[in-house]
Order: sequence, then structure tokens, then C-alpha cells
Amino acid sequence: MSEPRIALCPGSFDPITVGHEEIVRRALHLCDRVVVAVGHRATQAKRGLFPVEERMELIREVFADEPRVEAAEFQGLLVDFARERGARLVVRGLRTVADYEYEYQMALMNRELMPELETVFLGAGPRWSFVSASLVREIASLGGDVSGFVSPPVLARIEERFGGRGA
Ligand code: PNS
Repeated sequence: MSEPRIALCPGSFDPITVGHEEIVRRALHLCDRVVVAVGHRATQAKRGLFPVEERMELIREVFADEPRVEAAEFQGLLVDFARERGARLVVRGLRTVADYEYEYQMALMNRELMPELETVFLGAGPRWSFVSASLVREIASLGGDVSGFVSPPVLARIEERFGGRGA
């Protein structure tokens, strides 16, 4: 039997949004398994809205219905993590052209560092092209309603953190 094709969906996922979720589910069409890889530096582990461990728990809850999705964390270079996991594919979502420059630069650099690692971009569905984890964090921290932009387990955790609908 041939080796399973593993794709990495790397990111900060602080927290995972419906936009991320859509990209991960579409990535499953391209491979056998998707590793949702939460990248961080050891010194940053507790910064941001959610600690890395909690971000991974949320990813697991969001994909509880999907045994082909795994949550993992990595420190250091994405290419080193890809080698460790035997992954040859990185999948990233592109929301707007504003994302393109940075994403393309990262993809080229990663290919330079690991030529056998291919990056593919999936255009975010128009429904979610304006959603970002940073805006979700900001809206939630200022008491706004983020229920349209995150899945129920994530919303529940945000409500625990901020109370009510984020207030
Ligand atoms: O959700 P983000 O913040 O856009 O994710 C960025 C991430 C984690 C995918 C990127 O910063 C990354 O791959 N970091 C790991 C370190 C690394 O490999 N840096 C060189 C990239 S060319």
C-alpha cells in the first residue's frame, strides 16, 4: 500500500475561524490526511488570546467529525515539521490579493528550503473572505458578536473568556 498523502495546514489559529475550517475541509479533497499545524515560538506559547494547547483543543473539537484531521503544534521551521511528518504539501487559504504577496514569498522561501514541499493556495469562499482570527479576537474582546465567524465550540470558549456574547 502506498504512503498516505499528508497535507499541512499551518497557521496561528488563535482561534480557528470558519474560514480556516473551510480551507481544511477542502484540503481533505487533495490528500489522505490533513495536519492542522499550530506554529509558535516557545516564548510565545502563552501569548495571544488562547494558549497553544487550547488552540489545538478547539481544532480537535471543530473537527471531531473528521478522523482524517489531526491537530499538532510545531516550533521552528515549517519545513522541518514537514520533514518530520513526511508531508509534501502545504495548503494555505488566500482571502484577498492583499494576502498574496506575503503568502507567495513564504511559499517560494519554503520551496527554496525544501524543494519537494509544494504549497497550494485555495481561494477562500466569498462568504468568508473578510474573516480573520485577528478581527475575531478584536471584536470578541470589545464585546461584539462573533457567532457568525467561529464554530460553536470556539464561540463557547470565547464566551467563557469574555462572558456573554463577548462582553
Ligand atoms: O496564521 P499565520 O499567522 O498567517 O501563520 C503563519 C505561519 C505559522 C504559517 C508561518 O509564520 C510559519 O510557517 N512559521 C513557521 C516558521 C517558518 O518556517 N518560517 C519561515 C517561513 S518562509
